[in-house]
Amino acid sequence: MLFIMHYLKVTLPTVWALLYTTSALAKTNVLTGGTIIAYDEATKLPKVIRGGTLVLENDRVSQILEQSSTNGTFSNSSDTEVIDCTDKIITPGFIDTHRHGWQTVYKTMASNTTLGEYFSRLSAFVSQPYFTPEDVYISQKVGILEALNAGTTTILDHAHHTWTREHAAAGYNGTVDSGARVYFAYTFQNVSGFSVQDQLSHWRELNALNASSLTTLVMSYDDFSANTYGKDTQDMVKLAL
Ligand SMILES: *[C@@H]1O[C@H](CO)[C@@H](O)[C@H](O)[C@H]1NC(C)=O
Ligand SMILES: *[C@@H]1O[C@H](CO)[C@@H](O)[C@H](O)[C@H]1NC(C)=O
Ligand SMILES: *[C@@H]1O[C@H](CO)[C@@H](O)[C@H](O)[C@H]1NC(C)=O
Ligand SMILES: *[C@@H]1O[C@H](CO)[C@@H](O)[C@H](O)[C@H]1NC(C)=O
Ligand SMILES: *[C@@H]1O[C@H](CO)[C@@H](O)[C@H](O)[C@H]1NC(C)=O
Ligand SMILES: *[C@@H]1O[C@H](CO)[C@@H](O)[C@H](O)[C@H]1NC(C)=O
Repeated sequence: MLFIMHYLKVTLPTVWALLYTTSALAKTNVLTGGTIIAYDEATKLPKVIRGGTLVLENDRVSQILEQSSTNGTFSNSSDTEVIDCTDKIITPGFIDTHRHGWQTVYKTMASNTTLGEYFSRLSAFVSQPYFTPEDVYISQKVGILEALNAGTTTILDHAHHTWTREHAAAGYNGTVDSGARVYFAYTFQNVSGFSVQDQLSHWRELNALNASSLTTLVMSYDDFSANTYGKDTQDMVKLAL
């Protein structure tokens, strides 16, 4: 199970540091004194433990104790770090299964719009003229950082800002640079000036970079019904397979 802890009320760099230390290094972190949002296997309900202890060994939660004692509950060594979490909440990370990071700049502008209004004012179909690649980069990165700060540790980003190679690359770069764990679903779509075939090539190029980051390049496609037996759909499926 993906179970990365998020610490409310701590600064973003701290969260990042913990994400990296818990995923990358052989290390034990002992979080003491915090309020732990845990899970009770017996009742199948969330269980709140106040003043508990949570032990992370390498990238796994190995123990959750109901007291803040750390006596003999884990192997202590120079790789063990005890972190005082008094007055902090430790919760499982949230997983956002559908985000469009590039649209973060629209925040608060669409709270009272219908889907029809959304499509004509804010959607990927009409937004291209208003966004430079740099705008996409910033909006994407800020949106992901905001999600991370709010406790979201994994995102599936439905990236339909793939209007040009530069816009697509900018959103991808913003995602990689965020440092967050994101499945970047490059959208293959029928836009003028950047064919689906070119998008498929671009996807392969990005994939070949094999950049070491927490971003995983995946794909999305909304044109199955519009273009069921077309070459673009077939080539997209081939790439997926
Ligand atoms: C932890 O160990 C100390 C020293 O052995 C002992 O006095 C204390 O009661 C222990 N605390 C818990 C919660 O077990
Ligand atoms: C772990 O060992 C270090 C060094 O011996 C010691 O300073 C630290 O208090 C120990 N931590 C715990 C939780 O026992
Ligand atoms: C939301 O939009 C509807 C339709 O345009 C309008 O009647 C209503 O007053 C708006 N509500 C708010 C809170 O703006
Ligand atoms: C994205 O990042 C790569 C590698 O750092 C860089 O070569 C490229 O120019 C960037 N593209 C955009 C559109 O920002
Ligand atoms: C792509 O869009 C253009 C313009 O709307 C349309 O003429 C064309 O048939 C579409 N192509 C596919 C494969 O859907
Ligand atoms: C890409 O990176 C992964 C993990 O870092 C590695 O296992 C794989 O061999 C790499 N693939 C290529 C083609 O370099």
